[in-house]
Amino acid sequence: MREVAIVAAGMTRFGELWGASLRDLFVEAAQQTVESAGADRVDAIYVGNMSAGQFVGQEHLGPLMADHLGMAGVPCIRVESACASGGVALRTAFLEVASGASDLVLAAGVEKMTDGADVTEVLATASDQETEVYHGATFPALYAMIARAHMLSHGTTEEDLAWVSVKNHHHGALNERAQFRREVTTDQVLGSALVSEPLRLLHCSPVSDGAAAVLLCPLDQAAQYTKTPVAIRGAAMATAAMALADRRDISFLDAVALSGAKAYEMAGIGPEQLDLAEVHDCFSIAEICCIEALGLAPPGQGRHCARTGETGLGGRIPVNTSGGLKSKGHPVGATGVAQVVELFEQLTGAAGARQVPDAEFGLAQNMGGTGASSVVHILQAV
Ligand code: COA
Repeated sequence: MREVAIVAAGMTRFGELWGASLRDLFVEAAQQTVESAGADRVDAIYVGNMSAGQFVGQEHLGPLMADHLGMAGVPCIRVESACASGGVALRTAFLEVASGASDLVLAAGVEKMTDGADVTEVLATASDQETEVYHGATFPALYAMIARAHMLSHGTTEEDLAWVSVKNHHHGALNERAQFRREVTTDQVLGSALVSEPLRLLHCSPVSDGAAAVLLCPLDQAAQYTKTPVAIRGAAMATAAMALADRRDISFLDAVALSGAKAYEMAGIGPEQLDLAEVHDCFSIAEICCIEALGLAPPGQGRHCARTGETGLGGRIPVNTSGGLKSKGHPVGATGVAQVVELFEQLTGAAGARQVPDAEFGLAQNMGGTGASSVVHILQAV
C-alpha cells in the first residue's frame, strides 16, 4: 500500500442553514478544499451521506454532486453507514489512493436535516427496526439506556454527563463554524428539558445542516499541493451487533474498541502517543463510552475526564476541541469528515484559539447508530 496524505480541508458552518440546499453545502466545502490545494482535477469523489432520500427526497448523489462541482465525468460515489457515513467515505477514499488506483481523491460528507422531515423518525432507521424502532425506541431513548447501564456498572452520574457538555460547549465557543457558540454551566445542563431520562436537551447533539471535505493523494506527491501535509497512518472500520439487546454489555462499544485497536496497530502507536482526539459525542454518554473503548481513559473511568480537565484544552488528552457533535453540530453524513478537518487544522497549526501546542498525532472516531459501525483514523503531522 502507498502512504497517503491529506493535503487540503474545507467545511461549511454547521447549523440551521435555511439559505443553502444539500448541493450548495457540498459544493461550498468541496470547492474550498480543491481550491486551497490549487488542484486542477480530482480522480474520484466519495460523498458520505446518511439519508438525503428521506431528509430532502434526493437520492443518486454521485452524479448530482460531481456535476454541481463542475466535475461531471469524474466517478463520484455516495457512501452510507448512518452517522459514520463521512468516516467510511474517507476510509474508502484512503483505500483508493493507497491501492494505487487513483492519485487525487476527494472525501466529503454532507447532510441537510432541517428541511422539514421527521428527523427522529429518519434517524431511527439507523437502529434495529424489528427489535427497537417497532417498540417505540428513538435514538435519545437508546442512548439513555446506554447511559443507565453505564451508571449502574460504573457509578456514573448525571453531573458526570453534564461536564462533557460543558467542556464541549467551551471548545465550540472558540470555533467560528460551530452551531452553538456559547458556554453552558452544569446547572444549565441539569436544568434543561428532559428528552429521555437521564438525557436532557443539553446532553444531546442538535439537528444540523452542513458539509465537510478533505483531499487525499500519495504522501510522496503531497508537496505539489501543500507545504504542510498530514499523513493518514491508520484507517480502520469495525461492526458490532445492531440491536442493543444482542450486545454482551451495552455500556461498552465493541465496534469502537475494535476499530481503534486496528487503527493503532496500523499506525504503530498507542493511545498514550496521541495529542488530541475527536470522538463521536452524539450524546454526552457516547463520549465517555468512546474514550474508554479507545483506551483514552481506563474502563469505567471515562466519567471523570471532563470534570477533571483531562479531556479539555490544555489537559492530558484534549477531546473534541472542535466543540464535538454537541456544540459544533451533527449533520450526520458530514460529521466523520468534519472531525478530520479539525485534526488537519490542529496538525498543521491552523486551529487558532483552539490550537493544541505542537500536536503531532490525532485520532478521529466516528460511529453509526448506537455504535454498530465505527471507523477510526489516526493522522500524523509530517
Ligand atoms: N443542544 C442545545 N440546544 C438545543 C439543542 C441541543 N441539542 N437542540 C435544540 N436546541 C435549542 C434550539 O436552538 C432552540 O433554542 P431557541 O428556543 O433559543 O431557538 C431550542 O433548543 C428548541 O429547539 P427545537 O429545535 O425545538 O428542539 P427539539 O426539542 O425539536 O429537539 C432534540 C431537541 C434534543 C430532541 C434534538 O436536537 C435531537 O433529536 N437531537 C439528537 C439528534 C440525534 O439523535 N442525532 C443522531 C445521533 S447518533
